[in-house]
Amino acid sequence: MRVLATLCLVIPWVCLASSATKGLVNTNVIRTVDLQGLPFVREQVGVVIQNDHDSKVFKTYTISIDQDKAPNLSQLQVFERKSGHSLDLTKETPSTYRAVLRRGLLPGEKLSLNIDFVFVSLVQPRPQAVKQSDDQSWLWADNSLVPSVYPTRKQKTVVRTKGDVRAFTDGGARDGKQSVVFGPFTGEQDGGRVEVGFKDNSEQMEALTHRREYFVSHWADDLNVLEHYALRSLGPESAFDKVDQMVSKYMHRRDNLVKTLLVKVPAEAREMYFVDEIGNVSTSAVSKQRRAKGEDAFRVMQLRPRYPISGGWNYTWWHGYSLPLSRYLKVSPQSRHHLRLPFIGSMAACASLEGELTLAMANAQNTAVRQYELRVTLPEGARDIAVELPVAGRARLEPTKYYFDSIGGRTAVVITHENVAPELYARHILVSYSYSPWALWMKPMMVGSAFFVLFVLASIASRMEYGLAPGGRSLGAKSKAAKKD
Ligand SMILES: *[C@@H]1O[C@H](CO)[C@@H](O)[C@H](O)[C@H]1NC(C)=O
Ligand SMILES: *[C@@H]1O[C@H](CO)[C@@H](O)[C@H](O)[C@H]1NC(C)=O
Ligand SMILES: *[C@@H]1O[C@H](CO)[C@@H](O)[C@H](O)[C@H]1NC(C)=O
Repeated sequence: MRVLATLCLVIPWVCLASSATKGLVNTNVIRTVDLQGLPFVREQVGVVIQNDHDSKVFKTYTISIDQDKAPNLSQLQVFERKSGHSLDLTKETPSTYRAVLRRGLLPGEKLSLNIDFVFVSLVQPRPQAVKQSDDQSWLWADNSLVPSVYPTRKQKTVVRTKGDVRAFTDGGARDGKQSVVFGPFTGEQDGGRVEVGFKDNSEQMEALTHRREYFVSHWADDLNVLEHYALRSLGPESAFDKVDQMVSKYMHRRDNLVKTLLVKVPAEAREMYFVDEIGNVSTSAVSKQRRAKGEDAFRVMQLRPRYPISGGWNYTWWHGYSLPLSRYLKVSPQSRHHLRLPFIGSMAACASLEGELTLAMANAQNTAVRQYELRVTLPEGARDIAVELPVAGRARLEPTKYYFDSIGGRTAVVITHENVAPELYARHILVSYSYSPWALWMKPMMVGSAFFVLFVLASIASRMEYGLAPGGRSLGAKSKAAKKD
């Protein structure tokens, strides 16, 4: 340090040049791109950071994302590699986040971080159109360098695929059948844009929108669930071929068309239905009760769309069922109600096979949701509503009104979330509210009084009719009756 300071006095530009790179430095970066669970792309960036400043202490670390990838970001988490502690993150711009270090990094100190990204739909089918039973090929493309606001001394990228790698950019090195390594790149070196082409026959879907609605009814001990999907297949386009279809079916062979949508529902679900834009779809089935280790018992709804879904095609439908509310609701002695509901629940999975559906297919996490909306409609009279979310964000309270609702109407708790990651499927939302027992009688009273009014009106109407009958006799009869009263 003293040598440098002396040098600064003698030849100042040395000092200027070196201070430009003084600060935090990424001494080594290893990025692993996991393409084995498409349409989700999991990137883990292992980075060693070092404080190269003489005196400054660094308390935060900035994480950058390529601007074109930012809209497809689903999840970001940062961990200290040694302790496994996760770091708090704040979003600075659409493509930069700031992680707060657990303690300031002193001059000369090093720290290893793991930065875990989940992206959706970053990989496209190439070619875009293939025959119905042909293999599917995909293309992954990205910059060879990990973006960073700090200088990076050395880095490499490892790409892992599920099916075999078929082609990759010059400069990459094959590491087994399902892996390619780019780099290491040092200092100013840049490998430019890199690509990996690979085979992967798994089905993939993207829900442009998915809305899950809960309707709470204390009166009927009922939790009604309604799920609305607008889905698009991400696979290659494949023209439907009747002969090919027959052969596939006979041979129990996969192809590129999605024919079944699988939805896991709790074992006690009842009154299930499946409706699309045309109407009720009767070609659906429900599996026997199943139980996986560490999971509640469930059944699988097997929904058969009206037509096989090729790459690029949409399918819009909704399905629903009823659950016993008491399993999801706890009431404290002060009449405070606590609803604990799955935030996402099980996502629809897709399968190209029609028969011999397996549990693995129902568990396949192969549907990405771009725009998710959750609505919890509380009963009339619910007050002082508090919401605990499993994600960053805020719940909105929306007044809604249904037939026979009294003056107040109901409140719906509404949450939206973009690019749902499978890591969220098992999380819960907690909705607490106060609800007085008399509110339970409000609705029957409303219905009762509505019927009473109708009854009175109807009887008046019938008397009127009676009264307007030809001749004055009946009128006279009525007035006689009135006089008697
Ligand atoms: C993000 O997803 C969309 C599909 O929803 C896709 O068209 C786009 O290419 C993806 N972005 C990148 C950088 O791959
Ligand atoms: C759909 O099915 C349900 C239950 O089976 C039935 O109540 C309803 O009337 C049907 N709707 C149409 C449009 O067929
Ligand atoms: C699928 O839906 C999207 C969004 O609504 C629309 O832009 C697209 O044209 C639809 N594709 C087809 C093949 O209908």
